[in-house]
Amino acid sequence: MSKNIAVLGSQWGDEGKGKIVDLLSEKVAAVVRFQGGHNAGHTLVVNGEVTKLHLIPSSILRKEGLCLIGNGVVVSAAALITEMNELITRGIPVRERLKISNACVLILPYHAALDKYREIAKGKQAIGTTGRGIGPAYEDKIARRAIRTCDLLSEERLTLKLKEVLTYYNFLFEKFYQAEPLSFDTILAETLEHAKILRDLITDIPAILYELKQKHQSILFEGAQGTLLDVDHGTYPFVTSSNTTAGGIATGSGFGPRYLDYILGITKAYTTRVGGGPFPTELNDRTGEYLSQKGCEVGTTTGRKRRCGWFDAVLVKRAVELNSLSGLCITKLDVLDGLETLKICSAYHFHNQLITIPPCNAEDLALCQPVYEELPGWKTSTFGLKHYKQLPENAKKYLARLSQLVGAPIAIISTGPDREETIILNNPFD
Ligand code: IMP
Repeated sequence: MSKNIAVLGSQWGDEGKGKIVDLLSEKVAAVVRFQGGHNAGHTLVVNGEVTKLHLIPSSILRKEGLCLIGNGVVVSAAALITEMNELITRGIPVRERLKISNACVLILPYHAALDKYREIAKGKQAIGTTGRGIGPAYEDKIARRAIRTCDLLSEERLTLKLKEVLTYYNFLFEKFYQAEPLSFDTILAETLEHAKILRDLITDIPAILYELKQKHQSILFEGAQGTLLDVDHGTYPFVTSSNTTAGGIATGSGFGPRYLDYILGITKAYTTRVGGGPFPTELNDRTGEYLSQKGCEVGTTTGRKRRCGWFDAVLVKRAVELNSLSGLCITKLDVLDGLETLKICSAYHFHNQLITIPPCNAEDLALCQPVYEELPGWKTSTFGLKHYKQLPENAKKYLARLSQLVGAPIAIISTGPDREETIILNNPFD
């Protein structure tokens, strides 16, 4: 039976979505990215070989199936071509399988420049963006001045639009940021080169998705970042600029919201965050350092060290509700092996009250004090286990309590980076 499923992050990103998309994509006709851009970093390990992807859907290492980039993705043509070439050099037939929506907003050099000037100007209040120009590109979309992938198909249209938009940006750079203007001729020449390489891949994605649905073929939607970085529902302003939650799937791909059958929330067994912003269960102690070292918690895209902390059931419960998650996939359970005691945050103390709904404001969330439940850890290794019955009893109890607190069943447990190091309790395609 065909099924349309989504794989989303339920925390602040870096939950291990890439591995699970790769794992589940064996039987799908297409994998679709619907938001974000090359700020994402999805790491895949297949037979020990590591592949890092930023824009191309994580099913590209499979032998078949379309890899689709939906309209909600902001596309740096330069980054996409670099990523494509790396895969093509390895003998992967990218051009035969990749298709890009004609309605994607392009990230151009002025977006990355503005991202950087803004962060510098913010000083200590900086968001800690990836510096890829993601926010400024989405701003252009909302302001209705964006240059889109369909504009790559007409040199005349591209030239006119670039002239207009660069005039605006250069005014901003020179007058507000006292920075050098960017060269129109250079950007135009580069973009025209990129257009030549990408033009055959640019197409109407909603039509492909609808046709696959009519033919009863399965489709998988691959989220980037995580629920708590959603521009509407995340820890604003310390968020990314797209809708990372399930609502973004329909708008970011053109696939009707009634057609989704299953939404899987990828959830790390503890919590991490890259960049600034509140993090109630953050550990600035030896345990935090232990999680960071053992979990190799370094950003795939920027190489920044991730902040680490205990599992926050208040925030993940919110993610379950916001995304209508059908089930959870718990990742990096093995990182907790050997810890004497584990803590789960089940509520917050906020202004002398006990709350279980996170406050909307980043400033208020920063004032929340976690209320912890303590559970005993386990001594034996869970690394690489493939069967639930092999898990230590205390690991089973930890997982059961997480599931109970957040209100969603556990479908998959990931016990290592390799595709094979996985316990499947309930396959979303069954
Ligand atoms: P931007 O998406 O580059 O604008 O960055 C905004 C925030 O989202 C920063 O805190 C980034 O660290 C975070 N962020 C963006 N992409 C990712 C990701 O793929 N994983 C984790 N955090 C991310």
